[in-house]
Amino acid sequence: MKRIEVGLRRNIDDSYQVYIGEGILERVGMVLGADGSADRHVIITDSNVEELHKKRVQEAFEKTGLRTDCITIAPGENAKEISTVVDLAEKLLSLGADRKTMVIALGGGVVGDLTGFTASIYMRGIPFVIMPTTLLAAVDSSIGGKTGVDAASGKNMLGTFYQPKKVFIDLDFLETLPDAVFRSGLAEAIKYGAIESPEMLDRIKKAAEKGALRKIGFLKRLVAESCMIKKRIVELDEHDYGLRRILNFGHTTGHAIEAASGYLLSHGESIAIGMAIAARLSEKLHGLPATSRKMITETINAVGLSDVIPPTVGAEDIIARLSMDKKKEGGKTNFVMLRRLGEAFVNGGIQEEILRETLEESRT
Ligand SMILES: NC(=O)c1ccc[n+]([C@@H]2O[C@H](COP(=O)([O-])OP(=O)(O)OC[C@H]3O[C@@H](n4cnc5c(N)ncnc54)[C@H](O)[C@@H]3O)[C@@H](O)[C@H]2O)c1
Repeated sequence: MKRIEVGLRRNIDDSYQVYIGEGILERVGMVLGADGSADRHVIITDSNVEELHKKRVQEAFEKTGLRTDCITIAPGENAKEISTVVDLAEKLLSLGADRKTMVIALGGGVVGDLTGFTASIYMRGIPFVIMPTTLLAAVDSSIGGKTGVDAASGKNMLGTFYQPKKVFIDLDFLETLPDAVFRSGLAEAIKYGAIESPEMLDRIKKAAEKGALRKIGFLKRLVAESCMIKKRIVELDEHDYGLRRILNFGHTTGHAIEAASGYLLSHGESIAIGMAIAARLSEKLHGLPATSRKMITETINAVGLSDVIPPTVGAEDIIARLSMDKKKEGGKTNFVMLRRLGEAFVNGGIQEEILRETLEESRT
């Protein structure tokens, strides 16, 4: 038998900068203009963000000599499907976009995931940058290069790892967020608090109690610290084989609940419930102190999120969806558990009986 090696040991530098500030649009235009890796730029956004911010963004860019085209998609999770990717690719083709075109994801996690996925497959890969406009995208989805779309059987079932070239977080965008969307982003920040920084969890709870969650000083620190936590984890495990999985705290049941609700519950609302369930399981199976579980659920409630499964979402539906989860390996679904606050680990499976019992307890 003949053997031929295709030697692919490469060393690719996919590093990128994350810029955080207020009123930074003109500087974004200058940085992109000076970048030189693209000779044209196309913004991809959704219709809500288009109405609120597109004109301002394009005008600020134009002042720096950066001209952009724009493609708009429908807002919300229902747009996060493969047909939107095909549609985006067709529109890029009709604009004449080529491998020297950079796409700019201007929006929340949905726009970011769709744009990144499209950029990763369009002409076998074109550069993209992210300008997050939701808190969730600022603290979480814009860093780490996970892209993807949902399938009928579950969330994020099709996707790629594809890092952006740059991330520009202008906190001014967060001012127009409806409260419910803002809260959804806080769920991901609570996650970082639970898995990495009990001090951050405490600060979120105190800010919520003082009604200071939307204050710029609080947000600036929250976004910067969240980005630092995520970048440290992604640097150690870019492709989600080990440590990065702790970022899925609350996401295993959260994703199942989100899909089972027909996406009526948002991502943040669903993972808040998922984190409460994970904390309950951690207390039962791994000795998480009751006070720590209480701290997690109290913080979830303090920011205005619920920690209970709504009556419309059935336990059997959640369990059926868990069996199709991406985090499943060798017949077991992985759950991220806590030994204590700031100490997360992946538990390679939970008996269905205990899960069913915990789901029932999580209704009230
Ligand atoms: N790639 C990752 O690593 C990662 C991580 C976490 C979550 N996600 C994904 O992110 C998605 C959720 O992201 P999201 O919560 O940002 O949802 P989203 O993108 O759907 O945005 C929520 C809503 O807010 C609107 N909006 C966006 N910016 C606004 C602004 N500045 N002012 C007013 N309205 C605005 C949008 O039009 C939309 O209606 C989920 O699909 C989730 O799977 C991805």
